[in-house]
Amino acid sequence: MRKKIVAGNWKMNKTFEEAEDLVYEIADGIESMSLDDTEIIVCPPYVFLELTSDAVNDKKLKIGAQNVHHERSGSYTGEVSAAMLQSMDIKYVIVGHSERRKYFHESGEMLFQKVRIAREHELTPIFCCGEQLEDRKSGKHFDVVKAQLEETVFRLDEEHFARVIIAYEPVWAIGTGETASPEQAQEMHACIRDLIGKAYTDQTAADTTILYGGSCNPGNAASLFNNPDVDGGLIGGASLKSADFLEIIKHRLNT
Ligand code: 13P
Repeated sequence: MRKKIVAGNWKMNKTFEEAEDLVYEIADGIESMSLDDTEIIVCPPYVFLELTSDAVNDKKLKIGAQNVHHERSGSYTGEVSAAMLQSMDIKYVIVGHSERRKYFHESGEMLFQKVRIAREHELTPIFCCGEQLEDRKSGKHFDVVKAQLEETVFRLDEEHFARVIIAYEPVWAIGTGETASPEQAQEMHACIRDLIGKAYTDQTAADTTILYGGSCNPGNAASLFNNPDVDGGLIGGASLKSADFLEIIKHRLNT
């Protein structure tokens, strides 16, 4: 079901005490807000999932993981399975982030296995897609995103796809301070929604939540969220400071 969402991806940041402070600040900050149909999620590193889950127990804040392994279980030292996340009552997992594609060589096939296994375990994948700067400069950005969707989430049957959240994260905007313009974001989000309509049905397209990610901050959040196909944001750097993250949430609630 389509929702407004603001999600924080903490990436590999924070110590135990810092994570504890941050999650309480955010959970307390949203407690008095009237969220209605807006969902707020934070995705801390694996080692802080238990700490943060305990902290938000019975509160409005939801917890997601940043990754999941593409096999169900076995001899994969250092890895974490979908069954483990499910057993900790984690509901969301980021899949296909460009940093995992780049630094951990995650292929389309692997990402398909990840979303499939995530869905088998009742996890909602927050599936990231987005083009490189060269792709945009050469006018291939729509084709690149289409291919990323076709080799992964579009291989799910409709029932499972309906539980996927898409995050459009142009790689050139991640951590660079350079943001897609509201027009660029809207254009790509509308294209993604159109592709979903063709792969499934118009109803599923209308019901899919599509987030924008890439240098989203309190100064530009409102203009990005103020577009009909931008349902919210996946926030990196600005999710590490509670004041900034809460400010972005307020922009989502007010647009
Ligand atoms: P920044 O907001 O730091 O650009 O990161 C975006 C991102 O990668 C979220 O997943």
